[in-house]
Amino acid sequence: MLSGIPLFPEEASTLATKVDALYFFLVAVSAFFVVLIAGTILYFAIKYRRRSEDEHGASIHGAILLETVWTIIPLGIALVMFIWSADIYFQAYEPPKSNSAVNVYVLAKQWMWKFQHMDGQREINELHVPVNTEIKLIMTSQDVIHSFFVPDFRIKMDVLPGRYRTLWFQATKPGTYHLFCAEYCGAGHSRMVGQVIVMKPADYQAWIAGGVGTDTLAAAGQKVFTNLACVTCHSPDSGARGPMLSGLFDQKVRLQNGQTVVADDAYLRESIMDPGAQVVAGYQPIMPTYQGLVNEEQLLELIEYIKTLKPAPSAPTVTTPEPDGHAAAPKTPAMSSPAGAPAAHR
Ligand code: CUA
Repeated sequence: MLSGIPLFPEEASTLATKVDALYFFLVAVSAFFVVLIAGTILYFAIKYRRRSEDEHGASIHGAILLETVWTIIPLGIALVMFIWSADIYFQAYEPPKSNSAVNVYVLAKQWMWKFQHMDGQREINELHVPVNTEIKLIMTSQDVIHSFFVPDFRIKMDVLPGRYRTLWFQATKPGTYHLFCAEYCGAGHSRMVGQVIVMKPADYQAWIAGGVGTDTLAAAGQKVFTNLACVTCHSPDSGARGPMLSGLFDQKVRLQNGQTVVADDAYLRESIMDPGAQVVAGYQPIMPTYQGLVNEEQLLELIEYIKTLKPAPSAPTVTTPEPDGHAAAPKTPAMSSPAGAPAAHR
């Protein structure tokens, strides 16, 4: 009868086995001490019970050895739990650095999950991914807080409006896995569910090829970039009223206030939505906000486009040519000179 009730979700990611091992360890330690303590209480209650009205217990004033032992042993066990779980935590929440990871944008809204693949494929409440591949999810919400939860992968992370958060997983077996929203987000919360479909590499290739004809995210971003006339300021021949964007992604940027930030997804997003927040050193805060002019999807496309802007092959005035003829990458590409070559687009 009980066998029909799935006590545990399937273990379908590299993380799942690790999380479960830790979980079973915690259960085992707890069970051991429950039995030990309850058993000892019961045993002592019987053994040292009061046998007659005038019986008095011996007066005992502590036992240093005993107290030391029952402090040191639990401390050791607690430290094992801490180090073990901290290790898993860092694995779970530090996205892999490898370039082989497949990036997918996740856009949560009341009440659906939207997925955008780099190749231009878009999906709603369904996410197709290849098996045995690192999948990096860059997530944001269009309205309230949601939470991306796939029990079979043992991953869960809140998805916040106005911010990008990154979650990753590597599925270990093909199949269909349940995706939940795990944060109450309004009347339709319980219906905000979906599926993660893990496919064999060949099937995935066939699936992703089915999206031929749609623009890649970067290409769509280029259109947005053109439509919004961003190039008016962000181009070398504009008098460079705005910082150059080529080679900018993931580089350090020096700000007007002397601080240095890394131009990651979150920084690019903020620079579009709230340009006055972190002004690049050497520029005037003249850029208007694009809040309301671009939606979250277009924002993702723009960022993806900016990521593809490689540093100009030669930027004579700011970089020192290396012996091999290639220009060294400028330290802060955002500040590269107006004389720099036009942005090369891959
Ligand atoms: Cu989205 Cu609950």
